Amino acid sequence: MSDYSETSLVAVIMGSASDWETMERTHKTLDEFGVPHRCRVLSAHRTPELLAQFVRDSDKAGTKVFIAGAGLAAALPGAVAALTLRPVLGVPIQTGAMNGHDALMAIAQMPPGIPVGALAIGTAGAVNAALMAVAILANNYPEYEKRLKGYREEQARKIASTILPC
Ligand code: RP5
Repeated sequence: MSDYSETSLVAVIMGSASDWETMERTHKTLDEFGVPHRCRVLSAHRTPELLAQFVRDSDKAGTKVFIAGAGLAAALPGAVAALTLRPVLGVPIQTGAMNGHDALMAIAQMPPGIPVGALAIGTAGAVNAALMAVAILANNYPEYEKRLKGYREEQARKIASTILPC
């Protein structure tokens, strides 16, 4: 539900269009929960002014959680966190010579003072960032708490009903 007419509770930012393949999973998961959000390509290194403008505008418009996906040196989540008091979740993109380990370290190893919540490398992190955003929103929005509970129950039901041929 990337609806531009209503307040986006979550802003999803990625450093390059090449990150969309991974970050689409964040978008789809937020859609599953009916969370209004918007997705943008903005880079900490290549478009710093535009990034600052977007984060400040989103803050003013009522965005509650930021999700930032980036690969390689992955400065983006930290740069977003420097611009807002809202929680920032970072997704390390699985790319480059180090296969996402560089991005994971860059996102997880923030110096004390400006935190970023680091998720797993790649699509697992992209999905979990959305689920964590829903969990954060659930503190104040009962409808998201209800949907998250339903999601967990469905997940448990699938595991419990799995029948193996041996
Ligand atoms: C990072 O560099 C982006 O987040 C992307 O994961 C990586 C490569 O970017 P492109 O060269 O594909 O634009 O800033």
